[in-house]
Amino acid sequence: MPALVLLGAQWGDEGKGKATDLLGGSVDYVVRYQGGNNAGHTVVVGDQKYALHLLPSGILTPECTPVIGNGVVVDPSVLFSELNGLNERGVDTSKLLISGNAHIITPYNVTVDKVTERFLGKRKIGTTGRGIGPTYADKINRVGIRIQDLYDESILTQKVEAALEVKNQLLTKLYNRRAIEAGQVVEELLGYADRLKPYVADTVLILNEALEQDKVVLFEGGQGTLLDIDHGTYPFVTSSNPTAGGACTGTGVGPTKISRVIGILKAYTTRVGSGPFPTELFDEDGEALRRIGGERGVTTGRDRRCGWFDAVIARYATRVNGLTDFFLTKLDVLTGWEEIPVCVAYEIDGKRVEELPYSQTDFHHAKPVYETLPGWSEDITKAKTFADLPKNAQAYVKALEDMSGAPISAIGVGPGRDETIEINSFIQ
Ligand code: GDP
Ligand code: IMO
Ligand code: MG
Repeated sequence: MPALVLLGAQWGDEGKGKATDLLGGSVDYVVRYQGGNNAGHTVVVGDQKYALHLLPSGILTPECTPVIGNGVVVDPSVLFSELNGLNERGVDTSKLLISGNAHIITPYNVTVDKVTERFLGKRKIGTTGRGIGPTYADKINRVGIRIQDLYDESILTQKVEAALEVKNQLLTKLYNRRAIEAGQVVEELLGYADRLKPYVADTVLILNEALEQDKVVLFEGGQGTLLDIDHGTYPFVTSSNPTAGGACTGTGVGPTKISRVIGILKAYTTRVGSGPFPTELFDEDGEALRRIGGERGVTTGRDRRCGWFDAVIARYATRVNGLTDFFLTKLDVLTGWEEIPVCVAYEIDGKRVEELPYSQTDFHHAKPVYETLPGWSEDITKAKTFADLPKNAQAYVKALEDMSGAPISAIGVGPGRDETIEINSFIQ
């Protein structure tokens, strides 16, 4: 059985954690391939709720090996506090594997993230402030620190000194901050080395060997398609590739090994941070979606911006990821609306446009063209099959499927593992 990718089809927070956890029971490896602790994935198992940031959601399934791939950026202090939190709740985390090529989020990367945002003022991205962008920038600038560097003090010291040479100029001369002392950073990083050591592995080799032995490997994306550095709403994006290609570069597994790409799609839309969002609502409906959907960030506690479903975005996600299926989440949140508007196209400067415009200017001008679908009032949280859904809910799902360009293979009707309607099995 080849590999599967599970990723966000909108602006993040679609319910990837729940979907990954659900599939965890049938897969051997769950692998994060990009991003870092900017992610916040909520998993509800029975009466227990877990908020995962850096660890793959497969960590909650004992049979599954969780892997942090080379494309991820790792803040060791966050990793340890997440591991401690899970261990205290009785979760065994000893199977975790971390790529030695993954880059480390250093304390100075976190500082640079925060001061850059402050400096941008009104033009800020609204980052999570976790040092994600500056760490990827260091990686691309070839001044990044990798996990494996923790095991060669001389190389680590040289690299930290080189990275700080430029950063300290910026911090002291531009941002009016104190310089950061290389020796202190090296000491802090070396302090993580022993505890990290048992997890560090050649994950590229391990995953490729697993696939040769017909093991099932699931790649779990952080963030979402529209937050992708190449395909998202740049510059209001994250600094990595959550889209399907990122699963290959972020793990060292070739595209020919991937048989299925599942897009997690919320039955409405949310976004955190700055940037364009055509279907955003500023009225009671937006407030109601936020309240009923519990739309508050898991990582930063910020309220999420809320709006109606946008089929233009879903079609775009199908295209840039080569989606084979959708997992539609949070359908239950829409229960109670008499009518539900769905954005089917945009109007841009007086013209109807069916597909996402590549131009930032056009996207900023995009106004949603809505079609209104009839709502339902019956409680759907106990539905186990598609036929259990009220007729109007069935029609809503079918309409979204027709507009979005890939079959909907599962529907979330509540946050719990069992609150899911499975239509087609993802793993055969
Ligand atoms: P992620 O970042 O994509 O993993 O998503 P988040 O965990 O940040 O946000 C999704 C939220 O929706 C979490 O609180 C989930 O527990 C919850 N959730 C996921 N699927 C469903 C669903 O089908 N219905 C409801 N009501 N909540 C869901
Ligand atoms: P999950 O995995 C929603 C957003 C931030 C900001 C932008 C850049 O839970 O879906 P960054 O700190 O990454 O440089 O911030 O991206 N963002 C997310 N929004 N869900 C996430 O993760 C996000 N991770 C980053 O709010 O707008
Ligand atoms: Mg989230």
